Amino acid sequence: MLSHVPYITAPYEWPDLMNQSPGTSNIQPDIRPDFHLDPKSLRAAVLSAVDVMETHLSQIENTPVKPHIEPGTVAEKFAEHAPDQPSDIATLLKIFQNNLLPAVTLWQHPRFFAYYPAATSIPAIVSELLMASLGSVGLQWSANPAATELECVIMDWLLDLLQAPKESSFRHKSKQGGGIIQNTAGEALAAIMVAARVHSHLNAADKSAAAKNISIEDVYWQDSSSLVVYMSDQTHFSGPKAVRIAGMRLHKIPAQKLADGNYGITASQVRQAMAEDRKKGLKPCAVQLNYGSTNTCGYDDLNSFRGFSEQEQVWLHVDAAYAGPALILPEFRERSLLMQEISTSFNFNGSKWFLCGVDSAFLFIKDRQLLKRVFAADGDYMARSNAEQIYNPEFKDWSIPLGRRFRALRIWMVLSYFGRQGLQEFLRKGIDQADAARKKIDASGLLKQIAKTDLGLVCFRLASDDLNKNDLFIQRIEDLSDSGQKFLIYPSVIEGQKFLRLALGGIHTETKDIDLFLDLCLKAAQDVENGLVQKQ
Ligand SMILES: Cc1ncc(COP(=O)(O)O)c(C=O)c1O
Repeated sequence: MLSHVPYITAPYEWPDLMNQSPGTSNIQPDIRPDFHLDPKSLRAAVLSAVDVMETHLSQIENTPVKPHIEPGTVAEKFAEHAPDQPSDIATLLKIFQNNLLPAVTLWQHPRFFAYYPAATSIPAIVSELLMASLGSVGLQWSANPAATELECVIMDWLLDLLQAPKESSFRHKSKQGGGIIQNTAGEALAAIMVAARVHSHLNAADKSAAAKNISIEDVYWQDSSSLVVYMSDQTHFSGPKAVRIAGMRLHKIPAQKLADGNYGITASQVRQAMAEDRKKGLKPCAVQLNYGSTNTCGYDDLNSFRGFSEQEQVWLHVDAAYAGPALILPEFRERSLLMQEISTSFNFNGSKWFLCGVDSAFLFIKDRQLLKRVFAADGDYMARSNAEQIYNPEFKDWSIPLGRRFRALRIWMVLSYFGRQGLQEFLRKGIDQADAARKKIDASGLLKQIAKTDLGLVCFRLASDDLNKNDLFIQRIEDLSDSGQKFLIYPSVIEGQKFLRLALGGIHTETKDIDLFLDLCLKAAQDVENGLVQKQ
């Protein structure tokens, strides 16, 4: 029944790619560059770039997902030195089309199933143009009041979408909570770990009479080598990296299959690990929990962490980088409230499954002072800050960077363009597609899921218990994926078993794209079972 599905045989013919001479060859020496952002020239240049976007996006479905090229293929098309003479936009766009675009891995391709979705959208793209034309640097409120104030507004909107309690918002009179846009989840985690370290030292100082008079400057350089951060072994590698950046110890806890059929850790596991460490003279500082691990979209047992942060006197951070957006769905209201209740801070990305494009990671904190006492810094050349009212927090005092882009514009445009309903519809589409894929896998008899997932990620392998056969199956799919021609997917490993991570939720992905991929998987599975696939 499946034999009509052909494997890909003929290699894709690249358009002009790589027949172009190095990037400098088309340079026209009589061109005068425009240093003045002449509006008419800008308009013409942007319109020609828009034409390039239009051509690219209208052909995306028939373009390979990933270039099949050797390292160096792109770089060697460019001259060794920066161009001496000016060039015009038309020439640069041609080079982009010919020498760069065919070497781009297409994250917005309908059959990009690797990593996680990084859906972008029309408002996200348009806002980038506007943002770039302003070239504004949000060093502080007065450096771009619109940027700071809109950031407060959209962080409150996000909290509202998450059905957060009022106290969390900027508008609340307590001026305690709030959130900030970060470049990436990794950057947010690093900032949080540094803040957790300082918090731990200050807490200890509060309790010790001898240390009472310690200054915050003294706290910054205090020895942190006995402080420990706990997380599951399924935590994304940016979690351990953040702990390293903060100069603390990491205690990884093996995730186990929980009642929900996926992998996570429980509060009792963390308590046991803490007890062991305390016996060794170490001091628990923080816990990083997963709401949607990258590997299998597993949830740590958040319910068991109720009251944990207060009882154990540790910072509790929840990383919901990928799965967080789905918390705006009414059916996940309880999960959303639980995550907010138990956490000192949490993050989720706008850049993964939320139509905002890179870069946008949202970091929320219950008490903004926890960030400010670590990151507040000033320079004589800066404008005098106004007293903090509702919408003028100095975001430079909340995290690592000083200069900040007007990213709130992008998030505002995305949230407004789609509205709550549109965003929910988009998320449901990904979930429904994944549900259909899960059903097809379960019904096949040839494939099986390795963990129960309920969002857009589907994790599966060959149904056979023979791990060698599974390896052959994965190898077959990996080979097809490597060719980059029809789809892109990467395998992963859990409990020693290889499996495929089918990450759905792309903007262009339709049922036919998933069916094409799953049919290829079923054919590969059948071929393995029939002994037609040999180890290479
Ligand atoms: C759960 C989780 N946390 C953190 C990250 C790191 O994300 P970023 O690229 O925004 O640093 C990822 C990326 O896949 C992730 O899935």
